[in-house]
Amino acid sequence: MDVAQLFSTRARAGVDPELAIILAGPPPGTLGMTGGFPNPATFPSEELAEIAARLVQDEPGLALQYGPSAGLPSFREYLVERVTHLEGREPALDELMVTSGGMECLDLLCRSLLDAGDDVAVEGPTYLGAIMGFRDYGARLTGVPMDADGLEVAWLRERLESGYRPKFLYTIPEFQNPSGRTLTLERRRALVELCREYGVLIVEDVAYKELSFDGSQLPSLWALAPDVVVQAGTFSKVFCPGTRLGWAVGPAALIAQLSSAKGGTDQCAGALSQRLVEEYGRAGHFGRRLPHARALYESHWVALSAALARHMPEGVEWSEPTGGMFTWLRMPEGLDARELRPAATEAGVAYVPGSPFYVDGGGANEMRLSYSSLDEAQLGIAAERLAGVIQSVPSAARR
Ligand SMILES: Cc1ncc(COP(=O)(O)O)c(C=O)c1O
Repeated sequence: MDVAQLFSTRARAGVDPELAIILAGPPPGTLGMTGGFPNPATFPSEELAEIAARLVQDEPGLALQYGPSAGLPSFREYLVERVTHLEGREPALDELMVTSGGMECLDLLCRSLLDAGDDVAVEGPTYLGAIMGFRDYGARLTGVPMDADGLEVAWLRERLESGYRPKFLYTIPEFQNPSGRTLTLERRRALVELCREYGVLIVEDVAYKELSFDGSQLPSLWALAPDVVVQAGTFSKVFCPGTRLGWAVGPAALIAQLSSAKGGTDQCAGALSQRLVEEYGRAGHFGRRLPHARALYESHWVALSAALARHMPEGVEWSEPTGGMFTWLRMPEGLDARELRPAATEAGVAYVPGSPFYVDGGGANEMRLSYSSLDEAQLGIAAERLAGVIQSVPSAARR
């Protein structure tokens, strides 16, 4: 039987090749600056070994059983406390639910909000997984341009004034994937006011928010305007992706709809994961471990940043993240990051070309560099190799 013949239209569109490349890992023999995988040195295996053994032994009827779609009551209560501590604003219990990671939260939002052909605004560039997820539901995507201060609110205002009405705006305000940029406080205030004025829901993805190098954080969009924002959170970057755990905080009616939509996905997030994170968090481990993760990523960035400054030829620019795992590098016009990839592989370095992160073209001369996985010495070598590849293109060959 030719099973491929049975594939749906959606399936035939296939996985974005760049996402497939990221998930497959960097080519053998290269220094990979591709994935946004957290560094395994940040995984709290000792603490988890003790907690997991205890849970499996003492409460199999809870931790190994199905649970409610909105999440285990005790874990939701813990999340209310955690969100209140992080955001300075307390969500009601019915304004919060547990999801199976950040991606599932986006999927539940799509299931609940999108009909084919609906408009969705995203940042240009934005997270590849979100682009794929939104396209799966037939969304028509528009990219809002960004500068060093994050998405350009004035640009969005002009579009809204001329009648554009997206179902929602998707934004990653901190240490954005892929650009590493952070939305300023002034723009946050302007954005929530604008979206309130035009009735546009904001989907705020805070995947990297807790990974600022200095531990500081700006108020979230949800904390500024809980009436127009739904926040999608994940434990993947501050704990470990293997637990597949996240949350949604937003207006109660929307959270009730997302919980109901979860009946058509996995029905409930893993109870063992929920109990693990709850016990881990209540024991104070986040407070103890997160500073180490922040210091690790900062030290990696300092090494990469110094190496880029030392080796990159004139005309190459990159963003200056203050947290998270990514910087966004722009080569002179005419250079193409996809075309350079074979030479980069040959030189032993891997990155993600920029164009797939844009929904409406552009980014050919840009690329995402992740500094999460390589150590400081490797990042120095990777930057030198990459600079060599860029320099090797004769200026006559630049279109
Ligand atoms: C911005 C952003 N949101 C969401 C996710 C997905 O998170 P999760 O692993 O919880 O599905 C990622 C993962 O890379 C991400 O970068």
